[in-house]
Amino acid sequence: MVDYISRLDRALEAPEGGARSLALLGSTGSIGRSALEVLRLHPEKFRVRALAGARNITLLAAQAAEFRPEYLGVMAEEDIPRLRGLLPAGFSPVILSGREGYERIASLAEVEMALTAQTGAAGLRATYAAAAAGKIIALANKESLVLAGGVLRAACARSGAVILPVDSEHNAVFQCLAGGIAARRGGNAQAGVSRLILTASGGPFWGKTRKFLRTASPEQALDHPTWSMGAKVTIDSATLMNKGLELIEASHLYGLPMSALEVVVHRESVVHSLVEFCDGAQLAQFGRPDMRVPIAYCLGFPHRLSSGLPGPDLPALGALTFARPDAENFPCLALARRAQERGRGCPVVLNAANEEAVAAFLARRLAFTSIPLVVERCLDEHSRRIAGEAGRKDGPDFGGPDAGRIGAVRQDAPDQYADAAGERAAVDEIFALDARARAQAQEIIESLPFNSKPA
Ligand SMILES: NC(=O)c1ccc[n+]([C@@H]2O[C@H](COP(=O)([O-])OP(=O)(O)OC[C@H]3O[C@@H](n4cnc5c(N)ncnc54)[C@H](OP(=O)(O)O)[C@@H]3O)[C@@H](O)[C@H]2O)c1
Repeated sequence: MVDYISRLDRALEAPEGGARSLALLGSTGSIGRSALEVLRLHPEKFRVRALAGARNITLLAAQAAEFRPEYLGVMAEEDIPRLRGLLPAGFSPVILSGREGYERIASLAEVEMALTAQTGAAGLRATYAAAAAGKIIALANKESLVLAGGVLRAACARSGAVILPVDSEHNAVFQCLAGGIAARRGGNAQAGVSRLILTASGGPFWGKTRKFLRTASPEQALDHPTWSMGAKVTIDSATLMNKGLELIEASHLYGLPMSALEVVVHRESVVHSLVEFCDGAQLAQFGRPDMRVPIAYCLGFPHRLSSGLPGPDLPALGALTFARPDAENFPCLALARRAQERGRGCPVVLNAANEEAVAAFLARRLAFTSIPLVVERCLDEHSRRIAGEAGRKDGPDFGGPDAGRIGAVRQDAPDQYADAAGERAAVDEIFALDARARAQAQEIIESLPFNSKPA
């Protein structure tokens, strides 16, 4: 096992030859494009070795023509000839496809840091491959930790990999903890950390009535007041499931129990999260609501890089507001909390049911207010199933519920997975559970008449 301090030390080392070599998974998405904008500002500091998208072949070809990586990744093998045809004459990178392709890209020997910014559960395979291969992981794909926080912690401890959080809230916490310096001094307890407060914008539907929410359209849900993001995470922001997933992510990253993680609604999206210490002091990180800021922090860590953005204009903002979340209209937050507290695969089911429900909502097959209903029914069914199994076996945990061990970013690793083969088996088990939960979510979605009044 490689301890966390030496892992962080490795991330703190100056990149070899002055340039950090990178693989960007999800380069064609919102986070991927923002990362490339930051990289354009610092051509001497980075070498882009690999870019991977999924279906947007035209954009991937344009990115490849500009950054000239040695490797490209796409989802479908059939797209490779088209991609090759769009590349400039004389430029012929290796093009990989599908799950194995993404895994190979995330673990390339020549890559020092992998940005994992694919969307949804699909991102876990690449994140795990990077963790198993000992990479510095700039983690945007929060689902990786939601599904497999324990497995990833074990893989990092075994291989020497380290996770730097890209998600703006977790990045804010990381910054407030002085980039892991708390851990270097012996953990959160010694650093006096008592709780984390994650801020939530509240999304486009904050303050709306139940009546409005019942007939809310995808266009209305996609119209986020402060952040510009991919479709899935924007809908999660409207239901507050995004904040629920982030609570789970934070418990894995920072090793605090769910009871020490709080959410406050902060409409201006300028304070990205806070750390509270035992003396009652709170440290907050301020910044514009733009992912280039946390991305630049991770890419350059431990050095600060220009993100291309100035700080917020505080006098222009005038006032900042904070409120408690509305649990009645946004039940996803409590569902996520409960799933992590229960553990035993509940976060996997929560995420799978949510992904299916969000896709159905975007396809106009499900009412906005039925998204939490689908998630809750899938969780109830899973809870019944694992309760029936309790006498036989304690069931796979994959990382939750949180044991309340302290480390920022977390340094303990569950001893549940003896070796890489055990971790890979756990990842396969997670995807089997994910598939079962998706099938069940589809049945529930089919059974609910569109725009029905939720029970
Ligand atoms: N956007 C934000 O501001 C933000 C903030 C914090 C965290 N995050 C997290 O970052 C991740 C990415 O979010 P995003 O907003 O950038 O999403 P996005 O704009 O939808 O982009 C997703 C990326 O993943 C690729 N992709 C889609 N399905 C895939 C699959 N099945 N396998 C492999 N690759 C796939 C897409 O490729 P194609 O486009 O080529 O099909 C695209 O490159 C999510 O986990 C999200 O929660 C996002």
